[in-house]
Amino acid sequence: MPLSHTTEGALVHTMTVQQHTQQRLAVAGGSPVAASPVPMLVVRLEDDEKQRVMDVLDSGMLAQGSKCAEFETRFAEADGAKFAITCSSGTTALQLAYEALIQPGDDVLVPAWTFVATASMVLARDATPVWVDVDPRTYNFDVADARKRLTPNTRAVVATHLYGNPADIDNVTSFAKEHGLKVIFDAAQAHLARYDGQPIGCFGDASTYSFYATKNMTCGEGGMITTNNADLADRLRAVRSHGETTKYRHDLLGYNYRMNDMTAAIGLVQLGKLPGRTERRQSIAARYDAGLADLPGVQLPQATPGAEHVYHLYTLQLDPALFTCDRDAFIEALRAEGIGCAVHYPGAASRQPLFAHVTTDQPPISDGLGSRVVSIPVHPSLTDEQVEDVIAAVRKVAHAYRGGAG
Ligand SMILES: Cc1ncc(COP(=O)(O)O)c(C=O)c1O
Repeated sequence: MPLSHTTEGALVHTMTVQQHTQQRLAVAGGSPVAASPVPMLVVRLEDDEKQRVMDVLDSGMLAQGSKCAEFETRFAEADGAKFAITCSSGTTALQLAYEALIQPGDDVLVPAWTFVATASMVLARDATPVWVDVDPRTYNFDVADARKRLTPNTRAVVATHLYGNPADIDNVTSFAKEHGLKVIFDAAQAHLARYDGQPIGCFGDASTYSFYATKNMTCGEGGMITTNNADLADRLRAVRSHGETTKYRHDLLGYNYRMNDMTAAIGLVQLGKLPGRTERRQSIAARYDAGLADLPGVQLPQATPGAEHVYHLYTLQLDPALFTCDRDAFIEALRAEGIGCAVHYPGAASRQPLFAHVTTDQPPISDGLGSRVVSIPVHPSLTDEQVEDVIAAVRKVAHAYRGGAG
């Protein structure tokens, strides 16, 4: 434990953590660490978001007004990209990007450990996902594994910036260049993360974002695609809106995947708040890193070298050999201590029944993670006391279930 913390408050808290550790688990009838529950997630919209929505409603310009255009300009600037294209969700952002960059029949390298949409939208394009394993420390696309899985039909690579941790972008892009592949980054969980000191939107052919309710910045639902390619941006805009290239001329097969102006108005306010909220996430993560570093059998998240992690999630990985309980019992015990937690994800995307016809080959790291991972709260509304409660509870549960060599 961080006895090096020298402020009086931190020292007092350290002793409290140690005392908690000695006590009976709440799941076994002891007292919970947290006096009141610490939620896994708080979705907070404030008066300024509400006011901007009211302004749009009052204006009568509910769709294709100025707010989407303003949101696109501001997001592109913040993300280091030349163009940003709003759309209705992170899933339609992926679908639009794939439609422009992938052809039916292509093989597409995708991480086996990601949210399902990264890969399901490849199927929607009538292309084939080829599963690539992830690095067990960063949870991101493993380029060395991808090399082994290239086929004569491979035309694109999709890498997710999972949990807010940018992928190994240099290696992904140089591998793609070597083999003439398009590069799409699924950045649904990594708004305004950075890599090599630059915002992630300046890398690859396109990056896609989600503004779903639980994301670091949210509009309830919504999405964005960023790119530096003007022709691609034009095509994305057209396909987003019925394939229309000029008024009532439809050169392409398109959809209605547009964002509305109420959504964009919320997005603009959220974008302004994002840097402060990201800093708070990062400082909570730093406190967890210090407070949980010495726990045998608990692997902490590791940022990709050169990347700035924005901690959409703070996900622990438990080594089953070092505990007398399984991951689900660990979670049950944490919840009894008053700590909200969640599993991202209970299994690899490649194991989803929807892909059963694709291949039976399951990348081994991804295949094992579903029974080892647990995400603890890292949202910016957490108080310092709640953060300390999370640390105390994880330590208490880990101590109580310590087995094996731990
Ligand atoms: C990595 C990833 N990709 C894509 C999506 C899809 O985004 P949406 O829910 O906005 O469609 C999500 C959302 O959870 C995600 O986490």
